[in-house]
Amino acid sequence: MLEYAVFGNPIAHSRSPQIHQAFARQQGLPMVYERVLAPLDGFQAALADFFRGGGVGANVTVPFKTEAYAAADVLSARAQAAGAVNTLYQQPDGRILGDNTDGEGLVRDIVDLHGHALAGKTILLLGAGGAARGAVGALLAAQPQALTVVNRTADKARQLAAEQGVHWAEYAAVAAQRFDVVINATSGSLNGDLPPLADAVLAKAELVYDMMYAAAPTPFLAHARACGAAAVADGLGMLVAQAAAAYALWRGFSPEIAPVVAQIRAEME
Ligand code: ATR
Repeated sequence: MLEYAVFGNPIAHSRSPQIHQAFARQQGLPMVYERVLAPLDGFQAALADFFRGGGVGANVTVPFKTEAYAAADVLSARAQAAGAVNTLYQQPDGRILGDNTDGEGLVRDIVDLHGHALAGKTILLLGAGGAARGAVGALLAAQPQALTVVNRTADKARQLAAEQGVHWAEYAAVAAQRFDVVINATSGSLNGDLPPLADAVLAKAELVYDMMYAAAPTPFLAHARACGAAAVADGLGMLVAQAAAAYALWRGFSPEIAPVVAQIRAEME
């Protein structure tokens, strides 16, 4: 019986099975966890089959996080704030809980794994799509001095800022400013596109973070390093940390993250 799964399209590249098997080994429990390629128009049906067949928990990735939000019977506060769900859990009462652990994963990676405090810092968040929306709540909970959102389409940044009570600006308007931490939540890295951010902003940052990850440095991080950023980090730790939060919800055990990041990084090389 399939107990746990990750749903996406495409899904073959997903590292979630290896990550959750590593957590299960830490806990000393067996785990049945598989990738599910849901048809683009068939996510809800695939999910219903999974839970009817005894599924306990699911991770949800691109492009189904908004549909997962709609499919949940109950939502955590942070899933509501994000408007997206990356973790589903069939509660003992049979209702499906929708949660969003992406923001927690991001903050844990930056603060605990990379050792960069966010409290009292200035943060620049690039992008105003689903990935940025999922991060804002957790970033604010880390009590930065200020959080500013910039986006190519200014209206989306304005709307996100109004909803979540953060600052927004055009890319050009922040060119001469300094931010302690710059976080790329645009989908541009997928195609190697750099967001239109001034090099000087990257040069002055103490940490430049890309939510994307790859075996080689992402184009955005390679560029940030060339500009002189003091430190750069990709999103592999965020991936593992969001999975750890899901695992804790499902199985009441908080796994160690750092050794699993190291394992997956080694497998990618
Ligand atoms: P995701 O769920 O990955 O966030 P999304 O909701 O489609 O995907 O959002 C993609 C984000 O990346 C948006 O903020 C988008 O900017 P626009 O709102 O202006 O489209 C941003 N983005 C994508 N490609 C980009 C590029 N080449 N330069 C700057 N921003 C880009």
